[in-house]
Amino acid sequence: MSFHILGTAKALPEFVLTNERLSTMVDTNDEWITSRTGIKNRFIITSETLADLAVEAAKSAIAKSGIDANQLDLIICATMGGDYIVPSLACVIQKRISAGCPAFDINVACTGFIYALDIASAYFDSGKASRILIVSAEMMSNYIDWTDRSTCVLFGDGAGSVVLEKGNNLLAIRLTACGDEETLTVRGVQGNSPFKQNNDVNTFLQMNGGEVFRFAVNSICKDITFVLSQAGISIEQIAKVIPHQANMRIIKSAKERLGIPEEKMVSSIERYGNTSAASIPIMLAELIENGQLHDGDLAVLAAFGGGLTTGACIIKI
Ligand code: ACO
Repeated sequence: MSFHILGTAKALPEFVLTNERLSTMVDTNDEWITSRTGIKNRFIITSETLADLAVEAAKSAIAKSGIDANQLDLIICATMGGDYIVPSLACVIQKRISAGCPAFDINVACTGFIYALDIASAYFDSGKASRILIVSAEMMSNYIDWTDRSTCVLFGDGAGSVVLEKGNNLLAIRLTACGDEETLTVRGVQGNSPFKQNNDVNTFLQMNGGEVFRFAVNSICKDITFVLSQAGISIEQIAKVIPHQANMRIIKSAKERLGIPEEKMVSSIERYGNTSAASIPIMLAELIENGQLHDGDLAVLAAFGGGLTTGACIIKI
């Protein structure tokens, strides 16, 4: 099936927000955040724009791929929202990297990167593309209520990207969606229509943490089991499992339930917090850069998020 990775990269804002600093802003402390989530630091956008991060990650992945931006046939950006509603973040990236191909955003919350891989795979299989850039970029700091301690400690900003070429290294993939307007929501722009009734709407990210936790552990386990069986591969043959980074306890629970050895289940939540759709490509770029994933290694990627959506796949590096 369909593609192999030519290059990966990540980009993060300059400002590091520590648990200690957060403790001066809301009624929380390092001990609570660390023990409940595993998070110590997160990067937060200050003077940068989200497009700045997305373009940095895109340019770096393209440079590592040894191609020119004008050789791209498609740009897919996975994001809950760019700097504008229009133009899409993908179109801003296209302009700034001087590419000439079609470009669009998808919003699948934290599962966006896996959905983007599936779309890319379909473009390759149909013969419509030979090289595709995927950028996952998120500015979660825009959506959270910075006075709400139950959510503002969890998220961070960042971008991760991959350049894909037609190939055979997607071994299995599964996507799911289970429409839900209660468990995890962020309301859109409310406008000022004089005709609209009920303007008293909370536009910040709201979630039922316990419900997300249960959904996350169950879905990761189900999806990973499914793709392993679809590919006829055992966990012993997998070099790394890269789960969406939402909470260290979610990652640990899934690891224990699936019997995945400690060294295979990777995490960066301590350093970045939850960067939504960017969390998996950021980890992927880091593991390849640090020599923890080599050409020919098999990796499982597994995500869950708002929607509610889930996705998992097995790729050969
Ligand atoms: N600091 C100190 N105390 C806090 C904080 C905080 N930052 N936040 C909540 N508390 C308090 C609560 O008020 C509560 O106090 P009470 O018992 O006096 O009422 C207590 O801590 C326990 O709160 P719980 O919500 O029960 O804590 P829990 O152990 O369930 O952890 C958490 C909450 C971390 C949110 C957990 O449920 C979780 O991680 N869920 C998954 C969230 C997630 O993954 N979201 C995003 C997924 S999708 C995506 O990535 C977009």
